[in-house]
Amino acid sequence: MFGVGDRRASWFVVGEAPGAEEDRQGEPFVGRAGQLLNAMLRAIGLAREDVFIANVLKCRPPNNRDPLAHEAASCLPYLERQIALVAPRLLLVVGRIAAQNLLATDAPLARLRGLVHRRGDAGPPIVVTYHPAYLLRTPADKRKAWEDLKFAREVAARG
Ligand code: URA
Repeated sequence: MFGVGDRRASWFVVGEAPGAEEDRQGEPFVGRAGQLLNAMLRAIGLAREDVFIANVLKCRPPNNRDPLAHEAASCLPYLERQIALVAPRLLLVVGRIAAQNLLATDAPLARLRGLVHRRGDAGPPIVVTYHPAYLLRTPADKRKAWEDLKFAREVAARG
């Protein structure tokens, strides 16, 4: 499953891997986490159709286990090409696993939020926030996710 959305989108959202519902429908973020992602985007004035959405992993790991390093490594060039083709103004990375793989770090999510990251010189600015599935389990952190989204909007506007 490769991705969905506007191929000229200003915002490119990167998740971890397809879940069971995504596997069934062949589209990223269509389950419960996807509903919350849509609501998060709406809160900053974006429709799902306005953004491009893809995952680090293109296939669902068995039983939703965390992606293995070699799985992420083999999918990453594909994601890099997607990002280059869409050429977004901003990359919004949701969740620790996606962020750690994309940024090649083992830093915890708390240390990755609130900063502008880059991969190389030419790529778009990268902002990290919580995964919507985590927010479904931990609604108290939704307020911090809202801060992240406002920060991301600011970064995207800066260009
Ligand atoms: N979680 C993800 O990270 N990606 C999806 O596509 C669905 C759930």
